[in-house]
Amino acid sequence: MRDALGAMQSVLVLGGNSEIALAIVDRLIEGRTSRVVLAVREPAGAQSTIDRLTAAGVSASAIAFDALKPENHAKVLNDAFAEGDIDLVISAFGILGSQAEFDADPMFALQAVNANFGGAVTSSLIVADLMRRQGHGTLLMITSIAAMRGRADNYVYGSTKAGQDLFAQGLGDALVGSGVRVVVVRPGFVHTKMTDGMKPAPFSTTPDKVAEVVVDGLAKGRELIFAPSILRFVFAGLIHAPRMIWRRLGG
Ligand SMILES: NC(=O)c1ccc[n+]([C@@H]2O[C@H](COP(=O)([O-])OP(=O)(O)OC[C@H]3O[C@@H](n4cnc5c(N)ncnc54)[C@H](OP(=O)(O)O)[C@@H]3O)[C@@H](O)[C@H]2O)c1
Repeated sequence: MRDALGAMQSVLVLGGNSEIALAIVDRLIEGRTSRVVLAVREPAGAQSTIDRLTAAGVSASAIAFDALKPENHAKVLNDAFAEGDIDLVISAFGILGSQAEFDADPMFALQAVNANFGGAVTSSLIVADLMRRQGHGTLLMITSIAAMRGRADNYVYGSTKAGQDLFAQGLGDALVGSGVRVVVVRPGFVHTKMTDGMKPAPFSTTPDKVAEVVVDGLAKGRELIFAPSILRFVFAGLIHAPRMIWRRLGG
């Protein structure tokens, strides 16, 4: 339950090995968060994180969750909520891939669509229903700055995130008045295992910096968070730049 001050005591992370999500969790447990559930493909692989969180005084556990197995999402999520109220769900799973890999293997592109968009839709609809029934909760969906405009070098990934982002906006509007809110986070380039070996984009940042902006945004009741925050202003201009200019900028 959220305590009297509105702090999030229990957190469920879908894609519980995500470096960005775990950085957010690390910030939250400095406050009042005392229960963390990591939903991951291989629960045994999350043991070191569980040990670290437990040592910090948190009740931590891992459950099996695969974004590409939507037929299991209802049971997995119902079971997680049956253990006690969940104040915050962080939807953090994702496949980046490269445009070259997608061009060479359209079935891999479909897998990215099914995980990043399809898995986000099924799991979020179920989370929304469970939170509506418990009467409160926040669903934090990590989309991407790549969702904002199509680019030649990542348009499969970008379009999966655009679908997720638009879905999250609409879901948030649909939940107004229910006690449940949806928060969209659009990070730029973040140094994690997902981007390992890639050339950093301008305004690249770290999971901890993203977490700082996200936790601040959550506390302020924001519905849309850019990380770093400057991307909000950069993209306010870039979104309207003529396509010729966007292409020249590498778009
Ligand atoms: N890093 C960036 O520059 C960046 C920028 C914008 C947005 N994002 C988004 O931020 C989110 C978190 O990314 P991150 O940077 O923290 O990367 P990350 O550490 O690689 O985390 C992504 C996680 O997604 C999980 N995952 C992949 N496919 C899955 C599936 N089918 N079912 C369940 N989990 C699955 C992976 O789980 P396993 O541990 O099992 O492999 C991995 O731990 C992603 O949605 C990503 O698209 C990242």
